[in-house]
Amino acid sequence: MQIAKDKETLQTLLNKWSGKSIGLVPTMGALHEGHLSLIEKAKSENDFVVVSIFVNPKQFNDPKDLENYPSDLEGDLKKIQDLTDCVFCPDIENVYPNDFKELRFEIDHLEGVMEGKHRQGHFQGVCNIVYILLDLVKPTRAYFGIKDYQQLAIIRHMSKVHFPKIEIVPCEIIREENGLAKSSRNLNLSKDDFEKAAIIYQNLIAARDLIRSNKSIDQVKEIVRNNFQKEKIELEYFEITHPDTLQPINSRIPRSRGFIAAYVGNVRLIDNLELIE
Ligand code: PAF
Repeated sequence: MQIAKDKETLQTLLNKWSGKSIGLVPTMGALHEGHLSLIEKAKSENDFVVVSIFVNPKQFNDPKDLENYPSDLEGDLKKIQDLTDCVFCPDIENVYPNDFKELRFEIDHLEGVMEGKHRQGHFQGVCNIVYILLDLVKPTRAYFGIKDYQQLAIIRHMSKVHFPKIEIVPCEIIREENGLAKSSRNLNLSKDDFEKAAIIYQNLIAARDLIRSNKSIDQVKEIVRNNFQKEKIELEYFEITHPDTLQPINSRIPRSRGFIAAYVGNVRLIDNLELIE
């Protein structure tokens, strides 16, 4: 496994791989089994794999959130040393030099809801870093988790416009034994809160069952809201949306998805599930 700490070193390595297929797995580190499954998928579908580890300040709307974001580069490198060909772990100045001009992406139709609504500027920040990485690595395929479903939809859109040849590969959510979606943020949960956080997936499953038993969208929303209230867990939003436009829906349509963002302790967690097949 090669370690490239700056764009220039990475470029030298990429030049050697000219003509080969490359899988890119962008991450912010604090790697868990969800990330490892993306990397394994990338390895099985490409000649070479690049994993980027970079905590992107531009996608944090809350400085406290950035400060508390877990990081363990040494541990991460150990976890993936046999899985990837290259780790790209640049510092901030290398990615965003002083003369860096922030790009503005046309994603308004997808970012006005859920994460985009509650985290102002978040997706412009995500698009900036993903654009930089796709432009630099020019991968054959890039891998993103379905846990961040809205992010995946926005990156798909951005990449279709700017990098039509790159395939964006969605990867399944990996869960803890209690159903909680694996996330780097889970490291910030106390043991007690880790158990309480199971409420998120439990309610997505409950919503799916209720919809299947013909409850209306409004009824399902009310039941889920009450469930969180009863457990005194702060539900930031529960939305049921069209799977592609991400607009909230009032009546049943195929592939519609449920999305939850909730605070367990001080940790903000998100998850989603297909509710109607
Ligand atoms: O999903 C993440 O970890 C990040 O948003 C990403 C895609 C690596 C961009 O910083």
